[in-house]
Amino acid sequence: MGSETIELRKPVAEDGMALFDLVERCQPLDTNSSYCNLLQCSHFADTGVAATLANQLVGFVSGYIKPNEADVWFVWQVAVGAEARGCGLAKRMLQSVLSRPALQQVQYLETTITPDNEASWALFTSLAKTLNAPMEKSVLFEQQQHFKGRHKTEYLVRIGPFPPSAE
Ligand SMILES: CC(C)(COP(=O)(O)OP(=O)(O)OC[C@H]1O[C@@H](n2cnc3c(N)ncnc32)[C@H](O)[C@@H]1OP(=O)(O)O)[C@@H](O)C(=O)NCCC(=O)NCCS
Repeated sequence: MGSETIELRKPVAEDGMALFDLVERCQPLDTNSSYCNLLQCSHFADTGVAATLANQLVGFVSGYIKPNEADVWFVWQVAVGAEARGCGLAKRMLQSVLSRPALQQVQYLETTITPDNEASWALFTSLAKTLNAPMEKSVLFEQQQHFKGRHKTEYLVRIGPFPPSAE
């Protein structure tokens, strides 16, 4: 199955509970409250994307424009159901949000990744290469200092600035 058979669209509030279920089956992602998922699908719909196959939610990117940094799109979570993995869907979803007119001012993508999440490192490394943009890594939230030992260190990945588009 190619990812192009999957439809991408802006989320709506009615996606909230399906998003909760999708994240739950996409380990190692942390689940959020269903209320948080509803906000991601409504208040943050312009900076997120839902991927559906036969009206079922199979992929989702949640994110927002960073408060006080209008040129940074912060990607909160990327989730692709096991049935839709390995066909370029995650990368396609990220690129589709970046190409929206509403994100024209965005010059950087930021996200966080734990050290052992190979798929996520591969995804964002591949995206940086495709976008022809530099990628930097630093510690954002540290295991002991910030999580009191309850969660692995989250590394901040910053991709950008994006090169000017060839229009
Ligand atoms: C990570 C995840 C979103 C990738 O989704 P996907 O649609 O299969 O990814 P894509 O097909 O777009 O792959 C993009 C790149 O990452 C690579 N990649 C994807 N999964 C990989 C894996 N498990 N191991 C190694 N590389 C992987 C692909 O080979 C591809 O590289 P390329 O462009 O150089 O060919 C999906 O596996 C997932 O939801 N995992 C659980 C949740 C999670 O960890 N999310 C990311 C943190 S926010």
